[in-house]
Amino acid sequence: MTQIPEKSLFVSRSFACLFCVSMLFLILSSSILYQFGDASLVPRSIYNIIIVKTTPDYIKPDETRVAFEPSSPIFASLSCKESCSKINAVKPAICDQTQALLKVFMYDLPPEFHFGLLGWKEDRNQIWPNVSNLNQIPSYPGGLNLQHSIEYWLTLDLLSSVSPNVSRPCTAVLIQNSTQADVIFVPFFSSLSYNRHSKTRVTEKTTMDKILQQKLVKFLKGRDEWRRSGGKNHIIMAHHPNSMLFARRHLGSSMFVLADFGRYSSQIANIDKDIIAPYKHVVRRLDARDSPSFQERPVLVYFQGAIYRKDGGVIRQKLYHLLKDEKDVHFTFGSVSSGGVRKASRGMSSSKFCLNIAGDTPSSNRLFDAIASHCVPVIISDEIELPFEDVLDYSKFAIFVRASDAVKKGYLMKLLRRIRRDKWIQMWERLKEIEKHFEYEYPSQSGDAVDMIWQMVHRKVSYVHEKGGRKNRYDMSQKFLDAI
Ligand SMILES: *[C@@H]1O[C@H](CO)[C@@H](O)[C@H](O)[C@H]1NC(C)=O
Ligand SMILES: *[C@@H]1O[C@H](CO)[C@@H](O)[C@H](O)[C@H]1NC(C)=O
Ligand SMILES: *[C@@H]1O[C@H](CO)[C@@H](O)[C@H](O)[C@H]1NC(C)=O
Repeated sequence: MTQIPEKSLFVSRSFACLFCVSMLFLILSSSILYQFGDASLVPRSIYNIIIVKTTPDYIKPDETRVAFEPSSPIFASLSCKESCSKINAVKPAICDQTQALLKVFMYDLPPEFHFGLLGWKEDRNQIWPNVSNLNQIPSYPGGLNLQHSIEYWLTLDLLSSVSPNVSRPCTAVLIQNSTQADVIFVPFFSSLSYNRHSKTRVTEKTTMDKILQQKLVKFLKGRDEWRRSGGKNHIIMAHHPNSMLFARRHLGSSMFVLADFGRYSSQIANIDKDIIAPYKHVVRRLDARDSPSFQERPVLVYFQGAIYRKDGGVIRQKLYHLLKDEKDVHFTFGSVSSGGVRKASRGMSSSKFCLNIAGDTPSSNRLFDAIASHCVPVIISDEIELPFEDVLDYSKFAIFVRASDAVKKGYLMKLLRRIRRDKWIQMWERLKEIEKHFEYEYPSQSGDAVDMIWQMVHRKVSYVHEKGGRKNRYDMSQKFLDAI
């Protein structure tokens, strides 16, 4: 055993002591800085290092293995490329491809596949409308068609990414060279084609909708872009549950953007590769500042919807019989026709809870109408898939009830009546914060539905790559060993 000399022991003790004192000092000064917040003279960057900025608490911690790289300032602290601060500080006139999260190549399909379906007439063989000029953008018909209009908003957003005077988040950018793209976007307005042309007969057996789908399949299968990836990096929008009815089985390798998986087999569509996008709400969007409060919403539970006799719809009838005689419950059948939209808007914004019950598909626009009305959604739909659920914690602003529980006598009313006022207010406050993530708009804004979808695509693409990497690791390892 070696004896430690007295002197060196003294030196190391005093070092330890000095260390303790300086640590204490550092902790003290950071807490003071913290209290003074922005007003301190410390440069912002240092301040950010000392104080770990917290993300909004409704954003789930990173459970997926892929980093969440959103462009919206509310997410900015989660992870950010170096360029992030530059983007936030000065909006570039044109979104630079090196800064964008996602490089997108879009096929120049003829207008009959997209804006032509809206009655847009091209001049001089133009393929796309001039999105710099608001007057030249074909408008989308109102009414219930709007629910599935995501194809319109995503396409406009891509076009505007190369338009000099449109200010938008630089999340996705259109590029000309497909070999450099992260994803290939197929601009077919399939929901509109279904809504417009599923009954337009061209021959005895064929509708216009089906012909467009056939043309699309033929077009895609003939493209190098498709062959290179087997379609895997293609984004195809099929938000209406009946859209792409013919083509979906030929294009199942691509990334679909859907409302739900209700009418798909899991080989053709599944959560590993596809994206669930919100419906566009049809009721009026409430301003957070004049959202009716707890007291200003006299109706406890609201539901308005169609009766379905098939599939999951049985539960609607059971619930109707359980709830119809309860006081402060509004439960009526009848689809929300476009004339009834104003009534539904008023109904939901004067209710505390809005039921979202499985119908003939697991999803419906009712959930998004409830969110736009800041009416706490009660989701009774076991098979539902929710948009952006990997980053949004729905349990903070919605209530989930299993269908088997909801149909027990007294269960639902007891559950909802027991929710205290302050608990409801918490959820309502959260709804007002997250509501913008479900808003489709042009030009797109940071964190709106369009931006959220691009971010989701980015996460999917990175995830698929990563899985590819994992899958290959044994092969790569073997190759390496064989080469020795
Ligand atoms: C689009 O519209 C803008 C503004 O009206 C105009 O400056 C621009 O030249 C137009 N672009 C094309 C390709 O016509
Ligand atoms: C772009 O600029 C043109 C004219 O310079 C203007 O008419 C148009 O409204 C602008 N577009 C947007 C989206 O601001
Ligand atoms: C597209 O990108 C690839 C790879 O970067 C390049 O080899 C090719 O020349 C580019 N094509 C055009 C038309 O620029």
